[in-house]
Amino acid sequence: MNKKNKFRSSNWYNSKSHRRDTFIHRGWMRNQGHPNHLFDGRPVIGICNTWSELTPCNGHFREIAESVKKGVYEAGGFPLEFPVFSASESNLRPTAMLFRNLASMDVEEAIRGNPIDGVVLLMGCDKTTPSLMMGAASVDLPTIGVSGGPMLNGHHQGETIGSGTGVWKLDADLNAGVITEEDFINAEISMSRSKGNCMTMGTASTMGSMVEALGMSLPGNAAIPAVDSRRYALAHMSGKRIVEMVKEDITMSKIVTKKSFENAIKVNGAIGGSTNAVIHLAAIAGRMEIDLDLEDWNKCGDGIPTLVNLQPSGKYLMEDFYYAGGVPVVIKRLIEKNLLEENEMTVNGKTVAENNINAKCWNNDVIKKFENPLTKNGGIKILKGNIAPNGAIIKPSLGD
Ligand code: FES
Repeated sequence: MNKKNKFRSSNWYNSKSHRRDTFIHRGWMRNQGHPNHLFDGRPVIGICNTWSELTPCNGHFREIAESVKKGVYEAGGFPLEFPVFSASESNLRPTAMLFRNLASMDVEEAIRGNPIDGVVLLMGCDKTTPSLMMGAASVDLPTIGVSGGPMLNGHHQGETIGSGTGVWKLDADLNAGVITEEDFINAEISMSRSKGNCMTMGTASTMGSMVEALGMSLPGNAAIPAVDSRRYALAHMSGKRIVEMVKEDITMSKIVTKKSFENAIKVNGAIGGSTNAVIHLAAIAGRMEIDLDLEDWNKCGDGIPTLVNLQPSGKYLMEDFYYAGGVPVVIKRLIEKNLLEENEMTVNGKTVAENNINAKCWNNDVIKKFENPLTKNGGIKILKGNIAPNGAIIKPSLGD
């Protein structure tokens, strides 16, 4: 927000000193049918969308964007949806990771160069979450994350089947003649049976949980299934909240601090999160000029038990995690052991403790208690030695 005009977008839409430019900025926007009152200086909310039919995990994001828009309008804002590069983990060759930084630059410049006062990030498939968080961090506007949510549990021949985790076993079984070609195709059809991202605790669900642990989404964001109506209610509420955040000038750097990252590392240990979180959190922190190195993972992750019994470390899937209480229960359990910085601020204006301390667990086999964890010393471990002088990452959550 600058002093002369109330919000950043006023430099485009309400400038009295550059009337010709204002004519152009507003005039061309009107061709989409926006009525005059939307240019009255109200907050303009960018909805940064990684929707793509080539990124199937994010294929439902146009619908989520519509829910965000309802919330933005309700709060008196002006929502404008825009596309950014969408890196699909399942399709993109040679690897989606090659494009994460490119996508983050797209996000950064799309936000910075446009008349946007606050931004809602629609993220899901693995690399789409870090790339959007990185780009938004560099611009540092009021920002809120909305994940697309996981697919429903896969079911095949009487058993649950998790994204990714099951594929290697099925392939081995096919090669060994344990299952038929028909079984193999049926498993493929049964695994990805709804909209959403991978429903194991892979990178997508880990990064959704990291966004929640950092305080960058509304509570509960990570685990609500993509097709659950509560996902769309959360998107609506996020749209409503971002308008308030713009009015309160709550930028991303006012939410995310070094302590938020330390909280996220601890939550990662408790959920049995992906090793990819190490490189993605480092990249987001780097954009915020926050020092986060491998030693922080050892320091913060040491002694954190893995509580969440999800594949690939454990048994269940994201749908079960949501019904058991999701990330809020994990955060609550860490707070009860004095392991988190509970006063860290979050996007809804409440602290981590205020958001999560009353969370209830509905299944202690899915989210285990400290007394009976999946793995006593979980998390991510950093090893150093003659074959990895700069450090190597291992994930001990598979067993003590
Ligand atoms: Fe997109 Fe797994 S392939 S989340």
